[in-house]
Amino acid sequence: MANTLGIVKPDGVRRKLVGNIISKIEKAGLVIRGLKVLKLTVEQAEKFYAVHEGKPFYRSLVEFMSSGPIVVMVIGGHGSIEQWRELMGATDPARAKYNTIRREYGTSVEKNVVHGSDSEETAKTEVAFFFTDDEILPKGA
Ligand code: RTP
Ligand code: MG
Repeated sequence: MANTLGIVKPDGVRRKLVGNIISKIEKAGLVIRGLKVLKLTVEQAEKFYAVHEGKPFYRSLVEFMSSGPIVVMVIGGHGSIEQWRELMGATDPARAKYNTIRREYGTSVEKNVVHGSDSEETAKTEVAFFFTDDEILPKGA
């Protein structure tokens, strides 16, 4: 029953997809346990995506992620990590399954609208990157 981190990336916020995405999360039976709108500095985006440092797309990704407001969410519920990744679809929207968020709204492998943690360990680190414990609704609340 671990929590995971979801992000609506700058392209998703710009295109007013936030409500729609949250609706999909709730309809899937998952729960929003934390929610914020913020804008990452370049330094924060570098730190958040540090695992990709040195890759060819890193600079561009950092610039994109700090280019406008994002929505960060703590998503809870049964199998939240896998379920949220399933709802998002594959990284490249062109390869993502039908009815996934990235297939429906993504415009490129970079501008793919959403982010989701990829393991229990990453979820813990990524949630803590944006939220203190007292900003997250406890399970069963
Ligand atoms: P995310 O971390 O954002 O949830 O996406 P992911 O696990 O599906 O993909 P990941 O490999 O972790 O890549 C992180 C983000 O970097 C951008 N990207 N661009 N131009 C490229 O080849 C490329 N590859 C990845 C995407 O925005 C991707 O979501
Ligand atoms: Mg990733």
